[in-house]
Amino acid sequence: MAYQDILDGIYNEVNQIENTGKVADYIPELAKVDANKYGIALLDKHQNVFTKGDALEKFSIQSISKVITTSLIFSKIGNELWERVGYEPSGNSFNSLVQLENENGIPRNPFINAGALVIADLMLEHFENPKAFLLDFVRELTENPNINYNENVAQSEKAFGYRNAALVNFIKSFNNIKNEPEAVLDFYYHQCSIEMSCVDLAKCFQVFANNGVIPKSDKKFLSTSKCKRMNALMQMCGFYDQAGEFTFKVGLPGKSGVGGGVVAVFPNHYTVAVWSPKLNKKGNSFYGLETLERLTTETSLSIF
Ligand code: DON
Repeated sequence: MAYQDILDGIYNEVNQIENTGKVADYIPELAKVDANKYGIALLDKHQNVFTKGDALEKFSIQSISKVITTSLIFSKIGNELWERVGYEPSGNSFNSLVQLENENGIPRNPFINAGALVIADLMLEHFENPKAFLLDFVRELTENPNINYNENVAQSEKAFGYRNAALVNFIKSFNNIKNEPEAVLDFYYHQCSIEMSCVDLAKCFQVFANNGVIPKSDKKFLSTSKCKRMNALMQMCGFYDQAGEFTFKVGLPGKSGVGGGVVAVFPNHYTVAVWSPKLNKKGNSFYGLETLERLTTETSLSIF
């Protein structure tokens, strides 16, 4: 497949569409980013890298980090996880509180903020130094020792994180958070503040395209069944109340973040990451979705 030609063509085409999205500003530090950045990186199953635009520039991965923490907890505790969080699409926005009250404080899935906070709580429970552990793991997956938390972004989100504070306290009232809310939020804001480039991100998600095996070391991190389930979660819940549209138009499992990153996984074929900070009304990168829709259309390949 001539991926480079395809990326070149898509990049030029998408760049001509009027971008009606808006940069996330509810985390003030994120609003400082150059709104016109646009990069794409595709990594095929032989680890060949194809890039276009700002593919080597670091950005805030935000909610994309939820896939990594969920996979760490799933690999550690297995199906016990589903006693604390569900695996159904929520059909609601990423930071919604409404379903929790009628559902006993069990979030619908690990990718909405409510679910990710429960996963953060589990990270504190199951790892001695979860911040260091997570960073090491992300460095292993990306093969990049320079991946770090962005302390300014973490603190900026903490200062304005009223909704996440509400969520974690509300869930704790149902006894589905075991640690102190402050500690859970601190971990959560740090995981969201991790920065990497499109190339790093495509590399990071290779494990999900490769049956749970980390390509560089050949280490089986997730069983084939667990890897299938992680991809199923990304397919159903990766784009919140736009997960249906993403499946409809793109047809790959994936995950977005309010930093403007989107990553998608084509098992046994490739991973692809796009970064463009302007978000549509559902909080997903406007150009990111346009790019991926064209990729699966022009290659005539998706999981469906
Ligand atoms: O908790 C938040 O609101 C952010 N740290 C992450 C949200 C996010 O990335 C949603 N994704 N599109």
